[in-house]
Amino acid sequence: MGRLSVILLVFCMIGVPKILACRSLGSLPDAKTTRDDVPQLCRDEGILAYVDAPSSIYGHDLSDSIELALQGLIDSGCSDILSRFLCAAHFPRLDLVRYGVHNFDFYLRPCAEVCRAVWRDCRITARQLRIERTPEFDCKNFPSEKTDECLSYLYPPRDRPIIVNSTRHNATSVSILYAPPEKASMTETLRVRYNETLSWGQVGREIFQTISRSRSYSTLNITDLKSAGNYTFEVTALNNFGEGPKIFLDVPAFHNDIGTGCENITVQMCQSGIDYSQTAMPNSLGHWNQEDAGLEIHQFSTLVEVECSSYARTFLCAMSTPRCTTGPSSTLLPCRDLCVQARNGCEEFLIKYGFSWPEGLTCESLPSYDEGSDCYLGGAPVLEVWTDDQCEDIPVSWCRSALGYNQTAMPNSLGHQTVRDAELLLMTFTPVVQYGCSPHFSSFICSLFLPSCYSASVLPCRELCEEARNGCTEVLLEFGFPWPEQLACEDLPSHNDGATCYLGDFQPMQGTTNVTPAVKPRRYDTHNLGVPSLFRGWVDVQGQGAANDYCRVVANSGGYFLSCSLAGMEGAPTDLNYNSTGPWFDAGHMDTWYMMDVNEDGRDDYCRCIGCLPTTHVSCLLAGEGAFTAQTLDYDPVPGGCHYNTVNPYFGR
Ligand SMILES: *[C@@H]1O[C@H](CO)[C@@H](O)[C@H](O)[C@H]1NC(C)=O
Ligand SMILES: *[C@@H]1O[C@H](CO)[C@@H](O)[C@H](O)[C@H]1NC(C)=O
Ligand SMILES: *[C@@H]1O[C@H](CO)[C@@H](O)[C@H](O)[C@H]1NC(C)=O
Ligand SMILES: *[C@@H]1O[C@H](CO)[C@@H](O)[C@H](O)[C@H]1NC(C)=O
Ligand SMILES: *[C@@H]1O[C@H](CO)[C@@H](O)[C@H](O)[C@H]1NC(C)=O
Ligand SMILES: *[C@@H]1O[C@H](CO)[C@@H](O)[C@H](O)[C@H]1NC(C)=O
Ligand SMILES: *[C@@H]1O[C@H](CO)[C@@H](O)[C@H](O)[C@H]1NC(C)=O
Ligand SMILES: *[C@@H]1O[C@H](CO)[C@@H](O)[C@H](O)[C@H]1NC(C)=O
Repeated sequence: MGRLSVILLVFCMIGVPKILACRSLGSLPDAKTTRDDVPQLCRDEGILAYVDAPSSIYGHDLSDSIELALQGLIDSGCSDILSRFLCAAHFPRLDLVRYGVHNFDFYLRPCAEVCRAVWRDCRITARQLRIERTPEFDCKNFPSEKTDECLSYLYPPRDRPIIVNSTRHNATSVSILYAPPEKASMTETLRVRYNETLSWGQVGREIFQTISRSRSYSTLNITDLKSAGNYTFEVTALNNFGEGPKIFLDVPAFHNDIGTGCENITVQMCQSGIDYSQTAMPNSLGHWNQEDAGLEIHQFSTLVEVECSSYARTFLCAMSTPRCTTGPSSTLLPCRDLCVQARNGCEEFLIKYGFSWPEGLTCESLPSYDEGSDCYLGGAPVLEVWTDDQCEDIPVSWCRSALGYNQTAMPNSLGHQTVRDAELLLMTFTPVVQYGCSPHFSSFICSLFLPSCYSASVLPCRELCEEARNGCTEVLLEFGFPWPEQLACEDLPSHNDGATCYLGDFQPMQGTTNVTPAVKPRRYDTHNLGVPSLFRGWVDVQGQGAANDYCRVVANSGGYFLSCSLAGMEGAPTDLNYNSTGPWFDAGHMDTWYMMDVNEDGRDDYCRCIGCLPTTHVSCLLAGEGAFTAQTLDYDPVPGGCHYNTVNPYFGR
């Protein structure tokens, strides 16, 4: 998508809140980095100073206090927590957990009660050593424990969390019941970590729950598990000083209740390799018993043997010996999503041997998971329901009157996936349109955001853009923003050069007829839209200055690879025109991926966060001539890694 991509960025600054990266405890924002100019005493205790913490309430440095007066007290060992107390008093602790993990603006000092306890333990020694009560022990300067805004315990949690039990409600949801922690152990927050095995690899997940101050039994709910299988949860107690001991909790796999009309599967091919063992007859292919079903499906056993798709067996079995349920229909149809996966992998193989995809197994007649149907997904990725001819009415009234068409289709060249997304940004231009700076401003901006449903690959013409820019630059300035510098009309196809583009009512003057090749049209005959949960979108890998190549992660029998359906190749026998190379493609940690031109060759490269937790880093697979090269551009790992940082897939932020 080259330079055009920057347009969106500028628009974002105008109207739409920027996407915030998620943060976890392991990753302090940059501004919270620590200084190391603290006394050795504190470094030994692991207590550092945050750069932007409020300045010390004392008029002196802790080092001076120690040198002038306190060294004797520290050496005497009068109190176990003297050093920690002094350090935390001088260098307030960032409140990591007490008000929830996303709060990075509270700093806490020890409670007055802690101060008094330390002084109680040390005052006799102080008297003996003739040490004055220094300002550090002026305990009324500290907040009271009653306010809840101070540290009453200066160590990491002492005790492990007490888990009473756990309940697996269903495949996606688990509740963990835990007991209130002992007061003295000062656990503030529980952290639960678990590993999620996705089809392309394993990712670590983290959930935090601030412990209720009422100190009663509480539940922690995990609601988005991806598999029905066994899970191990690592549960750790945290407070502002760090983490305490952890425990591991095993939660068993979830098993569906089995209905009454159910029988054990007897079709041999379906007795293993699928995640259920009971079926009910008749099936949707019209077989009244498993023998008939078995005979029919046996014809396709070659598909399972050649492993043309890892979903072949699951799909064939889900058709012939459907999963048995308690519901009214007693069996579940396979989802269209599962069918499509099997067909994507195996249709080519069938055709090669002179067959075609069997009529009884058409995917289109099956229910789609995305439409909310009750169907058997069999672990297949969910496909968004998206058809080529899906036209929507144009929502913005001033666009309807400016454009010569009244229906649009997404995604657009700016990468918006829904009309709503485009509409939100478009609305920020309403004042400019109302101002009436150019009769062509609205048709330019509308045709860019809301391309015609029937020629969605057509961009507005350079001449239309220039006309709008000439008229509106000054008005935009009055509204407080310049004509987005990066919205270079020069990047758009030129009508005068003979390109196909959108002009609306504008009649440009004939310029030089220096004919350069037109921007190639997008392909809309792409069958394999890619794995919905991974990267997919319109980008520019050909370096044409237009986001007209459709790239996505696709599955094949060997795993995943990245492939683009290239602009200008409509009708070609394959829509996998531009592939990632090499034996192994790593899609990256979930939602950390984006495509952007990082090496300034005009082609968008595939970047994502990879590596093992917690030392992950961003690596970009460079787009080259005809394919992604095996070459990468890697960025130095940031402290704590990048895996927690979900980004916009077109901006990398
Ligand atoms: C978990 O413990 C609570 C309280 O003791 C009890 O009500 C609940 O039935 C238990 N759940 C399981 C699955 O044992
Ligand atoms: C799983 O159980 C939870 C808690 O009972 C419930 O909120 C959720 O809707 C259930 N999900 C499904 C898919 O049944
Ligand atoms: C997750 O996987 C990592 C690496 O394989 C392992 O060290 C860690 O203990 C696992 N966590 C849990 C909760 O199983
Ligand atoms: C967890 O779910 C239970 C019901 O399943 C609910 O009563 C409880 O409030 C939830 N806890 C939290 C912290 O959301
Ligand atoms: C879950 O654990 C049980 C017992 O530990 C084991 O028998 C079962 O095979 C496991 N299930 C899966 C899907 O790994
Ligand atoms: C069905 O299979 C289960 C487990 O393999 C077995 O225990 C049960 O006896 C079988 N039922 C019938 C009717 O064969
Ligand atoms: C859209 O435009 C066509 C002709 O341009 C017209 O026939 C149709 O009625 C319009 N539809 C709507 C909803 O305005
Ligand atoms: C990309 O990979 C697919 C699947 O392996 C293959 O069919 C296709 O021909 C490849 N495309 C190119 C341009 O090599």
